[in-house]
Amino acid sequence: MKTLNVGIMGLGTVGGGTYTVLTRNAAEITRRTGVQINVIQVADRNIDHAKTMTGGSVAVTGDALEVVNNPKVDVVVELIGGYTLSRELVLKAIANKKHVVTANKALIALHGNEIFAAAKANNVIVAFEAAVAGGIPIIKALREGLGANRIEWVAGIINGTTNFILTEMREKGLTYQDVIGEAQRLGYAEADPTFDVEGIDAAHKLTIMSAIAFGMPMKFEQAYTEGITKLQQVDIKYAEELGYRVKLLGITKCTNKGVELRVHPTLISEKRLVANVNGAMNAVVVKGDAVGPTLYYGAGAGAEPTASAVVADLMDVARLIDATSAQRVPYLAFQPEQVHDLAILPIDEIQSAYYLRLRASDKPGVLANVTKILGDLSISIDAMLQKEPDDNETEADIVILTHITLEKNMNAAISAIEALPEITGKLVRIRMEELGK
Ligand code: NDP
Ligand code: HSE
Repeated sequence: MKTLNVGIMGLGTVGGGTYTVLTRNAAEITRRTGVQINVIQVADRNIDHAKTMTGGSVAVTGDALEVVNNPKVDVVVELIGGYTLSRELVLKAIANKKHVVTANKALIALHGNEIFAAAKANNVIVAFEAAVAGGIPIIKALREGLGANRIEWVAGIINGTTNFILTEMREKGLTYQDVIGEAQRLGYAEADPTFDVEGIDAAHKLTIMSAIAFGMPMKFEQAYTEGITKLQQVDIKYAEELGYRVKLLGITKCTNKGVELRVHPTLISEKRLVANVNGAMNAVVVKGDAVGPTLYYGAGAGAEPTASAVVADLMDVARLIDATSAQRVPYLAFQPEQVHDLAILPIDEIQSAYYLRLRASDKPGVLANVTKILGDLSISIDAMLQKEPDDNETEADIVILTHITLEKNMNAAISAIEALPEITGKLVRIRMEELGK
């Protein structure tokens, strides 16, 4: 029987889950691959915890470099996180001709270009299925299952923490500050939860998907990122009255002007399946020119769902270890010399429909002034909701949904509307997506 020797760095949530799944399902995994996958060494800062978890059957070290330099290890599994030490460890492992499996989206989004070049030069596999949408095999779907298609766009709920928070806000009327602690306790949040709530984690994942979908390098620095921290309960409520849900979406589209790469709160019609994805679940919609829209749904975070993807990558390594690089699926789905540097559209240049909320004096003529500004900029209105002022109040909320327009036209409209004397404070703008065509 062929064997594959594995070293795991980081035995926390995902590392622990990976060890458990590999051990529990060892016989089934061997039945599928014809290879016995053995964990021969683990590294974790907490050596006692690692020893307890592995029950004395595996060598344990506090120094991850030992795993990377261990001549008996064929595959290094990086589950420490971060992108400084993990970059050094992964590059060293590659230089030592070891294959790498990682769940680290920050590492791949920021340093993937360098890592893949090193991996190609050393003829080793770098697999990262768990880096995007936890247990959903979206990397495999994009790279292989949809390989016949020209991918037009990808959009999804790709952060479990924020989806959990938004679900609690909508269903229980809580604020984001009320819920974030619970998301951390449940093990969904990143070590620094700012990455979740400010949309950075989703932007890492979106960057990876856009590179694979369109055959371009990782362009994380150019992603537009807006999180959920400024989202107000009242907008979630008004959106619902109009038949919409608010989700933190990652959206990437290949247009003839350039690639859209953006993460932000988004209104989606409640009739769409994605609008009904709740809690820490993730969902990704991929539109291919041949297949049309396809939807992938499942657990986006947590120990065993993520381990499911890590172990599947290890199984791929087990199957492909003797293949030449030409026989393997390229890291970014396209042949390396066919990965082209596509331009990312600045956010001003994207096209979107919009939800607008403004607070206006309850006087005749206000709406006419607002609609004139929109009309002058060729922004057409799809729906409108005017709330009655509360007792003793002289101002009312007006909510407007627009058809698709250029973001820079919308910026101009917002500035002009905010300058009207009848308008109080800042206008709230949330982008909307149809996700159908
Ligand atoms: P954890 O913090 O639970 O696990 C990381 C482990 O690595 C901890 O046990 C930590 O020890 C250990 N560690 C940290 N630094 C070192 C070091 N220098 N040497 C050895 N061990 C070290 O994180 P997760 O398991 O949640 O995440 C791991 C990776 O997986 C991250 O890249 C994350 O983004 C990604 N991921 C996480 C998902 C999830 O649901 N949690 C889902 C998908 C991806 P200590 O606790 O002492 O710091
Ligand atoms: N913090 C991440 C999330 C973990 O909430 O989606 C999974 O990548």
